[in-house]
This record gives sequence, C-alpha cells and structure tokens, in this order.
Amino acid sequence: MTEVARTRVAIVGAGPAGLLLSHLLAASGIESIVVDRRTREEIEGTIRAGILEQGTVDLLVASGASTRVLTDGRRHDGIELWFAGEGHRIDFPALVGRSVWLYPQHEVLRDLVAARLAAGQDLRLGATVERVDGADSARPRVIGTDADGAPFEIEADFVVGADGSRSVVRTAVTEGTRGDLFREYPFAWFGILCEAPPSSEELIYSNSPDGFALISQRSPTVQRMYFQCDPDTDPEALSEAQIWDELRKRVPGTSLVEGPVFQRDVLRFRSFVAPELRRGRVALMGDAAHTVPPTGAKGMNLAIADVVLLHTALTALLLEDDERGIDAYAEVALRRIWKAQHFSWWMTTMLHSTPDAADFDRRRQLGELRSVVESEAGRTYLAEAYTGWPLESRLV
Ligand code: DHB
Repeated sequence: MTEVARTRVAIVGAGPAGLLLSHLLAASGIESIVVDRRTREEIEGTIRAGILEQGTVDLLVASGASTRVLTDGRRHDGIELWFAGEGHRIDFPALVGRSVWLYPQHEVLRDLVAARLAAGQDLRLGATVERVDGADSARPRVIGTDADGAPFEIEADFVVGADGSRSVVRTAVTEGTRGDLFREYPFAWFGILCEAPPSSEELIYSNSPDGFALISQRSPTVQRMYFQCDPDTDPEALSEAQIWDELRKRVPGTSLVEGPVFQRDVLRFRSFVAPELRRGRVALMGDAAHTVPPTGAKGMNLAIADVVLLHTALTALLLEDDERGIDAYAEVALRRIWKAQHFSWWMTTMLHSTPDAADFDRRRQLGELRSVVESEAGRTYLAEAYTGWPLESRLV
C-alpha cells in the first residue's frame, strides 16, 4: 500500500531554499512537507560557500531562522582585488552602505534544520523522489520511496522543486520545452580547509599569471582557500607542499599562514538557467532553477531571493486565491537571476586565466581590473552586486 500524505505545499529539497521556504510559509500559516534524499548529517555537512548578502542576513534574523549569524558570523566591510603584485580594497559601506557576512552555508543549514524540527515541521529525510505528476492539475503529486524503501505519495496544492542542480522536479516543469541555457568553463577550483589562523582580515580575490586564487576564512582557527585548476584534477593527486606552492605563487606579495589541510575538493564551474521556472502548480527555485559559478558567492543568496518571491506568491495564491504573483514569478525571478548570472560570469572571467589566453587577453584583463578599482563607478558596481541588490517581495 502506498502511503498518501496531503499538505498545502510539498517542497522537494531540504537545502537552504527549501527549509527557509517552509519556515516562512509556516509563519504565514501555510503547512508544508519537506522531503530530501539526504540524511541530516549529509545536509548539515555539505561544504559550500561562506558569504551571505546583507539582505540574506536581514531575512534570516527577522524571520527568526538564525540569530547565530550575528553572533558566530563575521561582518565583512570589503574585499581585496589582488593583481600585478598589489591589493585594491573595495570598501562596501563607503560605496553602497551595505556589507556581507562570512557565515558558512552548513551553519545556515544547522540553524534552519533546528528551527524547523523545533516547530514540528514534517521533514522526511532519506526519501527518494522519483517524479512529480499533475503539474497542470489543481493537486500535483510527489511520488517516491521513503527511507525504508516503502512507496509514498504527497498530494499538495503546490509543489516546489528546491532539489539542487540535479533536480528531479525540473522534468515536470521543463518537459516538452527546449533550450537549457548554459555555459561551461575550462577550469575548476581546488578548495581546501586547513587548520591555521586567517592570512588576511578580509577575502582576497587574486588574478595572477598562474591563475586565480581566493583566500577566505571560516573561523579564527580554520581557513578556506581555493585556486584555479583543471576540471579533471584529482583532489588527492597533490601533496600539501604542492598545494601551498600553488596558492603562494598566485597571491604574490602576501604571506599565507599555512597549516594542516584536512579537507580538499574540486568544484566544477557551470552557468545554467532552466528554460522554464514554473508550470501550473509546480515551480523551481535555487540550484534546481539556475547554477552560477562560485566566484562572488551568489549561489545561495540567489536561492534565498527566489524563496522571498515564492513565499509572497504562494501566500497570495493559497490564502487569497490570487494567482497574479505566481503568474509573475518566473519573469520577476529571472531579472535578478540574469543579473547574478552576469556578475558571476564577469567576476569569473575577469579573475581567471584560460588555457588558450594570449598575451593580448592577459593585458586586456589587467585593463579591465584597473577600470574597476580606479573608478568609483566600477567599484560601486562590484560592491552593489557583491553585497546584493535589494530583495524584492512584491510580485504584482
Ligand atoms: C567563499 C566562496 C566563494 O565562492 C566566494 O566568492 C567567497 C567565499 C568561501 O567559501 O568562503
């Protein structure tokens, strides 16, 4: 016998977007069920970027989803762009009156999981979703098997796909449409976590003849760093000495504090936007709808912007039978998505070297970097995009 559960909103994916949407819906009196293939340990252990836009932090705090971000996170009032042996600071508050926060995504997830469980959220982990049926009907259904392998169905007024870049829900939305929009890049990031105090107070994004590097942090005792590598690099292939050599030569003129490397990974780059974000009563958000390359840390922040829009649209639809917001969702969301796509692509191409770069390309890139740091307009664009455009919650 297949267990059939009924709810108002079925959310596939217990990442930051799915969990925050369930949190905001609950505050508006709308019940939801959240399902995810992963276990709690897997969800909370996911290593991702660490930068939250001002608007993301404001929302997490105002909605009661996380207060730890203010106590355990760190406000960053700028970043350093490093090239030609020199650093150039971009001062966010002076340029745009906003800042960002260094608070890793897995900490956001820990806060959200704890908040949802404390509120009695129906959260089904270890459950595999096979497909979503009935997108064009009034009661779409999520079909899958639970942690014990038993089949289940969830019948809802609305289904949200927040199930990441390999989304299963996406098929129900984009089936029969054509034209995925994507771009691949000929490089990846080699990321490490190491036991050492910060090498720099603020993040350093470095363009060097040897390729890109990013010096980030996690805590007073743990640092996160990345350097550009070939996408096929085996993370285990490099010794610690080789890793430090690569990092050091990419930020010439700084001194890095070294320490034991206890985690390493290779992150592939992709820009992607799904051809449709909604069909009938199924919508996509976060990585299920779009992926950005990591430079500039827009991924999770963009997902949160989708959540704000969908929360407004679903509240109007489900409480007042007002369809205008959900009808406008894709169009409004896509405006920000394409701005973030551009910003992530721009930061990526400005800072990385491509394998086939000629001397012309390299000199042009330095010209581009100078156009940014030596102009208040250039610095302001970077600061505006990095700290995040205002979150829109009005759809109509
Ligand atoms: C981090 C990752 C990013 O992609 C970025 O742009 C800044 C920081 C990080 O993991 O700390």
